[in-house]
Amino acid sequence: MGVYDLIKNRKTVYSFSDKPIKEDTIIGLLDAARLAPTAGGIHEYEFIAVSNKDKKYQLSQICLTPNIDTAPFIIVIFCDPEKLKTVFGDEGESVFCVENAALAIENILLYAAEQGLGSAWIATVQQDAIKKLLEVPARYIIRGVIPIGYPSPEGKGVYQASVPKLREITHIESFNNKVV
Ligand SMILES: Cc1cc2nc3c(=O)[nH]c(=O)nc-3n(C[C@H](O)[C@H](O)[C@H](O)COP(=O)(O)O)c2cc1C
Repeated sequence: MGVYDLIKNRKTVYSFSDKPIKEDTIIGLLDAARLAPTAGGIHEYEFIAVSNKDKKYQLSQICLTPNIDTAPFIIVIFCDPEKLKTVFGDEGESVFCVENAALAIENILLYAAEQGLGSAWIATVQQDAIKKLLEVPARYIIRGVIPIGYPSPEGKGVYQASVPKLREITHIESFNNKVV
């Protein structure tokens, strides 16, 4: 599938079948994330791949997203803002840290879609609870919890978002000249 079709067909999935995922596929996902562009070429984020049943359950509870523990893997991405601060100051810490992780996560979501896998980016997380569960030191910030798996057969958990039409969000040359 080409990039445009992957982008178009990717959908958030919160509920998964019990079909296992090959370890190579998870490595591929993380490698795709690693290759995303980063501000100043600084890679301040890292991953934890979680497959332990109890930890997945606890993550689903902490994230208030009950079915994500049906995924064979949940990837947790976290960043060390200090690494950006030394080069970019406060802006780097607060903004680039989010932006870098967002690009890495999008690569994960698209790579997953290419493999026929479903995924979700859960960004609203309880920082302290996840850090405690996964023994992540306090200085890091959790950027996302990403369940990965084959979507459940009945499609349960596939969220249908409404997307604006291109003309509704596009201006030509200036703000006042909106495409109609
Ligand atoms: C920055 C960001 C944060 C998100 N955070 C959450 C979240 O905390 N919990 C959740 O259930 N879904 C979360 N999502 C998933 C969105 O709800 C989902 O992508 C959106 O509804 C569009 O659906 P689609 O991905 O199928 O196009 C997040 C998505 C993005 C891009």
